[in-house]
Amino acid sequence: MPKAKSKLKLSYHEELKLREKILKHVSEIFRRPHGGVSPFSSLSSLWSSSSISRHSSTRTSAPPPPPPPPFKPDQSVLLVGEGNFSFAHTLAENILKTGDSIIATTLDSERILKRKYDDAHEHISALIQKGGKVMYNVDATQLDKCKELKNKRFDKIVFNFPHAGAGIKDQDRNILENQKLVKAFLISCIPFLSSRRHYSDKYDGEIFLSLKSGLPYDNWNIKNIIKSIGNLVIRATNPFIPSQYPGYQHRRTLGFQEGISKGDNEEISDKKAKILLIGKKNDPKKSKKRR
Ligand SMILES: C[S@@+](CC[C@H](N)C(=O)[O-])C[C@H]1O[C@@H](n2cnc3c(N)ncnc32)[C@H](O)[C@@H]1O
Repeated sequence: MPKAKSKLKLSYHEELKLREKILKHVSEIFRRPHGGVSPFSSLSSLWSSSSISRHSSTRTSAPPPPPPPPFKPDQSVLLVGEGNFSFAHTLAENILKTGDSIIATTLDSERILKRKYDDAHEHISALIQKGGKVMYNVDATQLDKCKELKNKRFDKIVFNFPHAGAGIKDQDRNILENQKLVKAFLISCIPFLSSRRHYSDKYDGEIFLSLKSGLPYDNWNIKNIIKSIGNLVIRATNPFIPSQYPGYQHRRTLGFQEGISKGDNEEISDKKAKILLIGKKNDPKKSKKRR
């Protein structure tokens, strides 16, 4: 075989090996039945095995499914700051399949609630029919003042989209009021969280706090608030997906106002809502004891 001219300085044996490799590759291309397809289409297989191709295929693959709603059928739930009670209703109807272990509360009196949310009575009746309990005039920042909650503990304490709603125009004051509300709520929850270590409860209680993202909500600096409390910790941050709670209709503090409020959960779908699951810092890792 005549020696191939090469600009590379290869030894005789190296050059032979290289020639063999090239010949093998080319003869393989032409040996394949390629019915009208260019033999050089084998380049596409090189492409598909390349790292660039692998990179682009991950871009088009489906994202992992979101975690399911973090409630177990045997968990006790306290809801605070309910609007029209549609969240409590769907929790009983579709998630826990019972209302027996649900206490749903609102800051409003019964009269004011019914004036603010004209669909509240339907959700409340459905919740009560499923065995749930409803309480009015419950301030989430002073749960210890509520006689009916005395000596009770919960596996989940839920506050969806807390908002002081005082109509404060000044942005800084508005943020401050909401920070105060969330901080006081979190502190108020602590004695009402179940605990495997202290009470041999089945679960360590968690606070389920849902929040909107973006401005001004990001400026509430919830992480700093939790840090400043000291003995609470964020266990998980999940997306809040309204379709996981069929029938839930987010409401503003002021009530549903035609022309101002948006239906179909638009207000939260627009805002990349998230759920923070917050627990006590020193809770043990795995469940052993049963209630
Ligand atoms: C934006 S609305 C959300 C209502 C409802 N949780 C929902 O997701 O549709 C904010 C809620 O926080 C409640 N809220 C504000 N301060 C409160 C407090 N100190 N205790 C209990 N609820 C409070 C309001 O009454 C209102 O229902």
